Amino acid sequence: MTRPEAEPVVHIDDGRFRVTEWRFAPGAETGWHIHGHDYVIVPLTDGRLDLTLPDGGSAQAELRRGVPYSRRTGVAHNVVNGGAAPLAFLEVEAVESDLSARRLATLDRFLAAWNARDVDGLMDCMAESCAFHSSAGPGPEGARHEGREAVRVAYAALFDAFPQAAWTRGRHVVSGDTGLSSWRFVGTARDGGTVEVDGCDIFGFDGELIALKDSYRKNRS
Ligand code: NI
Repeated sequence: MTRPEAEPVVHIDDGRFRVTEWRFAPGAETGWHIHGHDYVIVPLTDGRLDLTLPDGGSAQAELRRGVPYSRRTGVAHNVVNGGAAPLAFLEVEAVESDLSARRLATLDRFLAAWNARDVDGLMDCMAESCAFHSSAGPGPEGARHEGREAVRVAYAALFDAFPQAAWTRGRHVVSGDTGLSSWRFVGTARDGGTVEVDGCDIFGFDGELIALKDSYRKNRS
């Protein structure tokens, strides 16, 4: 027997939260789904959910109107209204925290690619439209390298200028659309001169990829 489908009504979808009201006739189901975000369920009615689980097993959950519960990303199930009356709840998904976690993972990969001297790995972290503003240059922004090809050339030139280089003490923070990485650069230049200096990057993002790397370094004197 085919079950009726639960009806989703999206109330908020602003990049920080997605709030969906799910309305279930008796016997209605969501269909099989995997949650891609941490979420909170706020029951709008009392009711009983029949859950089908990935191992083929089943479970039941009692809903009490106004009594919320939270779950982590990765939950997989089909959800059926197991009661005789209509049922509804609000699903509040924390979509931004998920994006922030993916952006932090990008910054981890980016730092690892620098230490691996892997230009392809660096470019895999950069958005389709991207820029690099290096710490030294003729303008107030340092030197501006705009577009994937210019960014790739600038990154490769840095490896070329420093046959030995390491970025240590890496730390990352992401807040909203801005990322911050601090590090200590320890390098040996082509002429044998050594550099050891603390610095940081301020990042702009396009989705989970880097749209702008804006670099700053201490000026040793
Ligand atoms: Ni679900």
